[in-house]
Amino acid sequence: MKNKTGYKTIAAGVALSLVLATSGTAQTPAQTPAQAPTIRTVTSHPYAAAAVDSARLLAADAEPGTWMAAGRTYSEQRYSPLTGINKGNVSKLGLAWSGDIDTERGQESTPVVVDGVLYITTAWSMVKAYDAASGKPLWAYDPKVDRATGQVACCDVVNRGVAAWKGKIYLGALDGRLIAVDGKTGKVAWQIQTTDPTQPYTITQVPRIVKGMVIIGNAGAEYTCRGYVSAYDAATGKMKWRFYTVPAAPGDPTNTPMLEAAAKTWHGDFWKYGGGGTAWDTILYDPKTDLVYFGTGNGLSWSQDIRSPGGGDNLFVASVIAVHADTGKYAWHFQEVPGDEWDYDVTNPLMTADLKIHGAVRHVLMQAPKTGFFYVWDAKTGKLISADKFAPLNWASKIDLKTGRPVENPAVRYTETKAAIVQPAPLGAHNWHPMAYSPRTGLVYIPVTESSTGFQSMAAKDFAPKDRVYNTGTVAFSDKITALYGQPGALGRGNIRSYLEAYDPVAQKVVWRAPDQDYGAHGAMVTASDLVFSGDWSGRFSAFDARTGAKLWSAPVQADVVAAPSTYTIKGVQYVALLVGARGLPPGQVRTNPLSANNSRLLVFKLGATAQLPQAAVAGAVAGKVLDPPLLTGTNEQVIDGEGAYGRYCAGCHGQGGTADKSIPDLRYAPALNSLRSWNSIVLDGARADKGMVSFKKVLAEGQAEAIYHYIVSQANKAKATEQAKP
Ligand code: HEC
Repeated sequence: MKNKTGYKTIAAGVALSLVLATSGTAQTPAQTPAQAPTIRTVTSHPYAAAAVDSARLLAADAEPGTWMAAGRTYSEQRYSPLTGINKGNVSKLGLAWSGDIDTERGQESTPVVVDGVLYITTAWSMVKAYDAASGKPLWAYDPKVDRATGQVACCDVVNRGVAAWKGKIYLGALDGRLIAVDGKTGKVAWQIQTTDPTQPYTITQVPRIVKGMVIIGNAGAEYTCRGYVSAYDAATGKMKWRFYTVPAAPGDPTNTPMLEAAAKTWHGDFWKYGGGGTAWDTILYDPKTDLVYFGTGNGLSWSQDIRSPGGGDNLFVASVIAVHADTGKYAWHFQEVPGDEWDYDVTNPLMTADLKIHGAVRHVLMQAPKTGFFYVWDAKTGKLISADKFAPLNWASKIDLKTGRPVENPAVRYTETKAAIVQPAPLGAHNWHPMAYSPRTGLVYIPVTESSTGFQSMAAKDFAPKDRVYNTGTVAFSDKITALYGQPGALGRGNIRSYLEAYDPVAQKVVWRAPDQDYGAHGAMVTASDLVFSGDWSGRFSAFDARTGAKLWSAPVQADVVAAPSTYTIKGVQYVALLVGARGLPPGQVRTNPLSANNSRLLVFKLGATAQLPQAAVAGAVAGKVLDPPLLTGTNEQVIDGEGAYGRYCAGCHGQGGTADKSIPDLRYAPALNSLRSWNSIVLDGARADKGMVSFKKVLAEGQAEAIYHYIVSQANKAKATEQAKP
């Protein structure tokens, strides 16, 4: 039987090859009655491993024991029908096995589990395959990404996971390659360069498999890139279609009529800076509409004064775009942030669901973007159904449901002379961290961050985009911004907090919030036993009651967690898998992994298991961090110059204002502060280039490396004084 997409519908053939296992699953109201968790026997299939095909992907719900794709099914709800682990027994969840990861940057991938094999990607786009039951490592693949690529990876050298298809495992590598490796051996089957390697493009997202094609976008909208999404034949790597998200220079052959029209919403020579609009995270395929959806990021520069003097919507930045799966032809778009100036990417996870709205079941597309407004659209037409605040924000008062446009707060547009304090900050109310939706509770589980920041535009005449650095055209620190923060009732500077939130997308209201002890967002998963699983930045992995937010179980993981977990069964036993490791270590935690300074690991849990993580500190151990800067010897001018240069060249990786929030060192704690010579050997001579800290000799002007040094010493001394003033 064929459905209207031309695929076979859930076929008996799939069910027949399944080996039924023991633990039961819940009957879920909005889905087909769930079947028992199952595994496939690998040997009976034409592919030795990763034996995923269209029929199987479309029927992923009929295999609750498999986690076939990063979002589990095409809906990307990250909802598991498994109930083996439930509220009654979750307290007995323990560590079954773990695998030390040999990189010490951010780990963002969701484990994909097919036919008894568990696949992850790690920082630097490496892939590892394990026996999903025993944890035995099966193979590892390292695409050997040039570490200098890290310089144009805005937000760490991360990777969010693999796609599995007909015996192959697909990944997008940081350097812009799309790579297919054999699922059984990890040997490269084919690889292609999807980007111009002379341009500062990167890839960190999960490739998606759609109708025998692999779909992939890219990142780089802070660094003079132009966004696009491409589809390649999954068997051969031959390109099938490409959709550019912003127009190029007039007359460019890639400008479709749609892009010629979009160009009218821009001013000036915007194409000189690439335009931005990169689709760097979410890509969703919906078999019901046969559309592929993706969200686009910010324009370049952030400052509209520079990017498009005179304003305009700047299509299609900060938009959700739907294209026809077979051709990549435009179907509809919805621009969430016309003329965005605040780095409000709408690349955040998209998911489809069937929601009962005003008595009728609607097939919808949902998103909780950086802006803080939760959107529900008709998945087929893109018509806005509802939009409301899921987090505090000040940039707009509401979304006008008739026009779909935000009612902007005029105070948040900034120029060279006018500063603004904007909530949320570019970090976003919700960023890439996976959210989850349960058709049982009807709630979406969103990792939310509250933040604000100051913006002011650079003078347009001073804007000269440079290679391989942030070209946002903004300053984050200025007298005007400081004055705004000093006003009565102003938002607190750097006042960041985060929580896991349960949100009702039909009523558009917050149902519960589970606050984080230490700030930092972390991906989520929900199961049919009404458990929400998520890690945190205090070194814990926890299970929450999906209806109340009560914490029911928690285990130490010795690392910060940003990735989302997944769950699967092998021989009837349910496992929960999570990749941990990001920025530094949780407060008080020592290094216990000989291979990675941030204790990056794959952890797999099951009921009644009692494995332990190593407790003993290994060489290079850091127990928290100690602020021990030398006294400030630089002049006031140097500190001010250093602040500007740091903001432009270093903050993208090391954090705003010398406060790091990623897996890249917080320079205030750098041992190199103790000697300007070792500082210069790192910053100018590239002493750590093999670790991703390349030389800035060609970028920095004479004396700037030293000015930044003095600025960081001054920041470190300020932080130390604050620390000592604490009771
Ligand atoms: C593309 C990302 C990136 C940018 C931009 C960047 N760095 Fe780094 N930096 C790193 C990474 C990664 C490390 C850690 C290297 C290692 O593991 O040894 C690092 C380490 C350092 C260290 C050593 C810290 C320590 O704890 O020992 C110093 C000093 C440093 N960077 C200075 C700078 C300065 C100054 C700038 C701006 C001119 C800058 N970095 C820009 C990625 C970056």
